[in-house]
Amino acid sequence: MASVTSLSDSVQQHLASALSATLPEAAGADPLLRRSDRADFQANGILALAKKAKANPRELATQVFSQVVTGDVIKDVEVSGPGFLNITIADRAITENLAARYADESGRLGVPQAAHPGTTVIDYAQPNVAKEMHVGHLRSAVIGDAAVHLLEFTGENVIRRHHIGDWGTQFGMLIQYLDEHPHELDHKAAQVTGEEAMSNLDRLYKAARKLFDSDEEFKTRARRRVVDLQAGDPRTLATWQKFVDESKIYFFSVFEKLDMEIQDPDIVGESGYNDMLAETCRLLEESGVAVRSEGALCVFFEDIKGPDGNPVPLIVQKSDGGYGYAATDLSAIRDRVFNLKANTLLYVVDARQALHFRMVFETARRAGWLNEDVTAVQLAFGTVLGKDGKPFKTREGETVRLVDLLDEAIERASAVVREKAQDLSEQEISERGAQVGIGAVKYADLSTSANRDYKFDLDQMVSLNGDTSVYLQYAYARIRSILRKAGEVRPAARPELELAEAERALGLHVDAFAETVAEAASEYAPHKLAAYLYQLASLYTTFYDKCPVLKAETPEQVENRLFLCDVTARTLHQGMALLGIRTPEKL
Ligand code: ARG
Repeated sequence: MASVTSLSDSVQQHLASALSATLPEAAGADPLLRRSDRADFQANGILALAKKAKANPRELATQVFSQVVTGDVIKDVEVSGPGFLNITIADRAITENLAARYADESGRLGVPQAAHPGTTVIDYAQPNVAKEMHVGHLRSAVIGDAAVHLLEFTGENVIRRHHIGDWGTQFGMLIQYLDEHPHELDHKAAQVTGEEAMSNLDRLYKAARKLFDSDEEFKTRARRRVVDLQAGDPRTLATWQKFVDESKIYFFSVFEKLDMEIQDPDIVGESGYNDMLAETCRLLEESGVAVRSEGALCVFFEDIKGPDGNPVPLIVQKSDGGYGYAATDLSAIRDRVFNLKANTLLYVVDARQALHFRMVFETARRAGWLNEDVTAVQLAFGTVLGKDGKPFKTREGETVRLVDLLDEAIERASAVVREKAQDLSEQEISERGAQVGIGAVKYADLSTSANRDYKFDLDQMVSLNGDTSVYLQYAYARIRSILRKAGEVRPAARPELELAEAERALGLHVDAFAETVAEAASEYAPHKLAAYLYQLASLYTTFYDKCPVLKAETPEQVENRLFLCDVTARTLHQGMALLGIRTPEKL
């Protein structure tokens, strides 16, 4: 695995040594290098350094300038404005850099891996048993999946945890009902589709609810079932397991539709921490982190108060002895820190649960489970809105079923693919339709920063123009088609060739893939990668308009441009894969 030093890193090093040669006390200072419209890069860091050294910034810049070694990488430097340095990269260096990336046999395009990776436990894709999945679950799954890919790509050791809602008082009613009507789930699991499984659960839920609301004696029996469940009564557990299994059939069918790999052993729901709950409470109470208040075990916070000005506690154990969501999450932290040996706990959860996580994390910090070596972060995501800008609901005011949305996206995308299809079979159209439709939904989610709300607008999502996955997928397919058309002529880097402006811009952007991925991974910000890829496709389009590829002037130029096409395609493909989106060869 050959990692390649990016051009910006080389320039950075050149500038840093020029800086410390000029101003010894500036050793190690950041020259603040940015891509720029005026030159390839601009360094703005001298301004701040001059201020600190009480020097004239332009004079200091001129001194640094005279120390910069031009040559293989830096072709030209100039002082500009109040004390900026504008840097131009040699064409040869650009081509050679891309050639080294192209030659990386691991397919990583020369992107380095962390020398000392840590372990991140990521909590994402956590639907609830016996319930429909909705758009909130979509966001957690899509953002979480991208974060997993990004982190793994940087070399991080990633452990997935799907903290499904599979425990709690609502199961008493369901279990009691199924026990009294045992034939209602009488089937061989293998023969049931996801859709059927969900409709079975829905039917059971409605029937149980009806009985619960109308029959006092059933209600009493149902409440007793909750106690049995928490006490671990084997028969009760067996019935509960049926609900979990039925739900998993449904979950897996949705994840498959989402083209997402979820492994059964990574599904460790709320129930998975049941054995730890009592001890979690004991530890918190003994250390004084939690105190008894009106019978409940509570943690209080200085700065968290309700509308009435009274402190709002985190309730770890209710006064009736029952444990809730907080106890489970605190126990999960202990498991992830002490058993899974995580350094980072990442939670991809709706922003509306931010207060819960703030309190849970602070409690764990006070208990010493989280500290400088182990941190917890909520990657909080915003709400999915309908076209009207209000939280996404059906006309009847119900939450929209995720499967319906996905099916509609696939249908719309198939129409787009069919319209453009030239040499695709029916089978290919439906396959591509799914890849484009699911890609569209994922990309729309991933291209806005996670904490923001976004509008679920299928018309916009499957549009061929603008910042959509379809645009990126078409760019990729077009490149692949050129490479096929080239036939015998193979892509080959020709570092001796001078580059056109559009070629340089494209090349420099390809080089920036590594730093984009590093930034997107460390900030848990897939939208930065999405923005990069969109820019890449746009730069490619400009290149393609301005620079004939197969009809270039010389055979060497044809080869070099094919090479630029191919390295762009690989970057697009790899980048989209990190976002969990397919790039079909033909569209
Ligand atoms: N099941 C929850 C929901 O649907 C999300 C779980 C989030 N993860 C956690 N560790 N609390 O809202």
